[in-house]
Amino acid sequence: MVLFVLAVSLLLALGTGVSAECVACPNCDYERISIEQGDACINFWTCSGDTITCTYPSVANPGTWNNCSYSASTGWALADGSSEICFSGAGANAKCEAPNNPYNNAIPACTASYGLINGTNGQLL
Ligand SMILES: *[C@@H]1O[C@H](CO)[C@@H](O)[C@H](O)[C@H]1NC(C)=O
Ligand SMILES: *[C@@H]1O[C@H](CO)[C@@H](O)[C@H](O)[C@H]1NC(C)=O
Repeated sequence: MVLFVLAVSLLLALGTGVSAECVACPNCDYERISIEQGDACINFWTCSGDTITCTYPSVANPGTWNNCSYSASTGWALADGSSEICFSGAGANAKCEAPNNPYNNAIPACTASYGLINGTNGQLL
């Protein structure tokens, strides 16, 4: 019974997004490096006002970056960037774990102006 209640509240939380406090950049974009390596992934983000910008290495133009911006005012939908490359919406980071926690909905404000992630598939090609 306790487990059932927990499962229901987890589903409710996931379904409505109530547990989400921070907004995260999509971990990767839609540009594939290779079948083996998969998609290009985030290197860093910036945040200003109500807008986060997520930066990924460009596969089409090696040595340059692709930027995908998402805004609170558009419901965290894609505000600037190519829809062929960028995810259509930003994600939730329910516990605001660093480093992918550019914006805190609870404040609401940027958590910082810049954050480095530089993980797998996040370096310039
Ligand atoms: C993306 O952002 C980076 C860093 O802010 C900048 O150097 C670059 O010119 C931007 N790229 C595009 C295509 O706007
Ligand atoms: C990003 O990661 C690469 C590979 O691990 C490393 O060579 C590079 O110095 C890192 N860049 C930064 C800014 O930390």
